[in-house]
Amino acid sequence: MINVAILGYGTVGSGVFEVIKTNSEIVAKKAGQEVNIKYVLDLREFPGDPVMDVLVHDYDVILNDPEVEVIAEVMGGVEPAYTFVKSALMKGKSVCTSNKELVAKHGSELIEIAKEHGRNFFFEASCGGGIPIIRPLIQCITADDVQEIIGILNGTTNYILTKMSKEGLDFDTVLKEAQELGYAERNPAADVEGFDACRKIAILASITYGKNVDFEDIYTEGITNISDVDFKYANKIGYSVKLFGKAKKVDGKFYAYVAPVMIDDTHPLFSVNDVFNGIMVKGNVLGDVMFYGSGAGKLPTASAVVSDIVDAIRHLNDNVAVEWSSENLELTDIKNSEKKFFVRMSGDAESQKAAVEAAFGNVQVITLDDVNGEFAFVTDTITEARYEEAAAAFDNIITRIRIEL
Ligand code: HSE
Repeated sequence: MINVAILGYGTVGSGVFEVIKTNSEIVAKKAGQEVNIKYVLDLREFPGDPVMDVLVHDYDVILNDPEVEVIAEVMGGVEPAYTFVKSALMKGKSVCTSNKELVAKHGSELIEIAKEHGRNFFFEASCGGGIPIIRPLIQCITADDVQEIIGILNGTTNYILTKMSKEGLDFDTVLKEAQELGYAERNPAADVEGFDACRKIAILASITYGKNVDFEDIYTEGITNISDVDFKYANKIGYSVKLFGKAKKVDGKFYAYVAPVMIDDTHPLFSVNDVFNGIMVKGNVLGDVMFYGSGAGKLPTASAVVSDIVDAIRHLNDNVAVEWSSENLELTDIKNSEKKFFVRMSGDAESQKAAVEAAFGNVQVITLDDVNGEFAFVTDTITEARYEEAAAAFDNIITRIRIEL
């Protein structure tokens, strides 16, 4: 039997407790021994909940118990998670976490500390909820020069965008639903402003390219400016709007961004809807591979945490190598990257088309029968810098959305 502790009894923590109890036989078989939850740490009381038998309020009880070999940190936030995780690793305990803020900020350091102590720091649940993506990137896609990682990495925003597109619901109503379903972060700005997806693409890029991708270096734009009118245009031209996190290597230079993008139905991520996440990895010899599944929610995320616990037990005294050095990976300004742009402009198309084409080059004009006083256009492929230069000449641009092909 092996003793584990869970730090935090919120949505994910209670899910980890439930998964270990519900699937105890399967988990024991995979881990090679029974997994016993010796402690759950939380400041709160949970009267009537079976967790009360193992609930503690003092982290030192867990830290100083030599019988606890593996800790699942599912509290979220950088502190006190960082202090707790670091001290656990230094005491020779393995740690599994779902905490993307912690991993994005301190991943390389915590991996190094685990290595020094012959233990493991695993973080499968930090990206893509229940989708196995971290372990495949670290352990499976090792023969390739990875050209691109493109992901729908935030379940809450994908849920919101899908409902807005298909049911015409407004942003606030759908956000509330996502919160009630346990998908959203405590502070919804982390989801809707793109910060959560930004941390996730930083983690995926770091383990792929082996150097630290600082999430603060990543251009990040959220979905708060996406409106029902954008969806009307998108639907007319057969596009959908998705929040992408993307990291790309071109001629030895690295780009990364998080932004809402329009894609058409030929894009492999077009049908990734609702709370689902999808991640596409392009290798130079492998070609494209796709990972798809539940990107948020109690049990899918807990499934990923428990799979890490099993792996930590399988490798109790042997460190599984993760290449993620503390050296920062230099990112190139996305102004140099090329794409098409969807632009909405006030006024009428006929009188402005010539000026628009003089500035942006060839465009495809789109008008809607039920939307007056504005039109939209799609540019040819141009650089971000060229777009900005052209857009600066107009004071009637309502919005612009990048197009990914
Ligand atoms: N708020 C996150 C999301 C939870 O919606 O994807 C999973 O990381």
